[in-house]
Amino acid sequence: MRVIIEADSDSGSKRAARFLADLVRRKPECVLGLATGSTPLAAYRELIRMHREEGLDFSRVTTFNLDEYVGLGPTHPQSYRAFMQQNLFDHINIRPTSTFVPDGRALDFELHCRQYEQRIRDSGGIDLQLLGLGSDGHIAFNEPGSSLGSRTRLKTLASETVRDNARFFGGEDKVPRLAVTMGVGTILESRRCLLLAFGEHKAPAVRDTVEGPITSQVTGSALQLHREAIGIFDSASASLLVRRAYYAEVEASQQLLERGEYRQLGIGSQST
Ligand code: F6R
Repeated sequence: MRVIIEADSDSGSKRAARFLADLVRRKPECVLGLATGSTPLAAYRELIRMHREEGLDFSRVTTFNLDEYVGLGPTHPQSYRAFMQQNLFDHINIRPTSTFVPDGRALDFELHCRQYEQRIRDSGGIDLQLLGLGSDGHIAFNEPGSSLGSRTRLKTLASETVRDNARFFGGEDKVPRLAVTMGVGTILESRRCLLLAFGEHKAPAVRDTVEGPITSQVTGSALQLHREAIGIFDSASASLLVRRAYYAEVEASQQLLERGEYRQLGIGSQST
């Protein structure tokens, strides 16, 4: 995994927004995988600013969200569909018919999940999947123990996740117990994954995800198998990473490569 450590969540979010915006500019008809929760909020604000001030054009973009609570309809204030409308879609020029969020009120979930996967395939697959990280190391709602080959399906939320999300619902007892979520296998098929985690409370999950063994107990760790997974962390969430200094060196080389400053890396120079 490429690990980018920014000083704070603000610069981390701007960095994430730049990855998304660069793709939208390079490939206007791209397919984005999107996440909800606290983590991507500032990145979404930055994308809205880029749309308003720099003309970033979403008119040909298609999006697929990772997950939705079972039982919540699109107009329920805590539904992930409502979250996406409020925090991104209503403020950019994306076509409403090109934004897909799993339906928390599907009557036949097995069919719905199959159709969701089919829709992703029909759209050409996800170019870039944005991901947050649960404090138990989950990606999407793939709780500890989820198969690393899993597909979109129903999942029971872990008690840690119910606790974490109680703040949005005004109490643990009001948090839905089930969610429909893309699987780890679905996520790994994205061409690029962008994992974000900010704050000290995410430090153990970041450590386990990046430097721990690949295990279904920490579904984020499956990203170690992905060819193009990028983690953007702030210094607090990265504080337990053992190889921080090395990641900074890799990043410095990466910057030189991107700027075409090959000589400083010894590329093209003769050694005798
Ligand atoms: C949300 C999602 C979850 C969150 C994770 C972190 O669509 O899939 O995996 O990304 O629970 O949540 P926050 O960002 O609220 O800490």
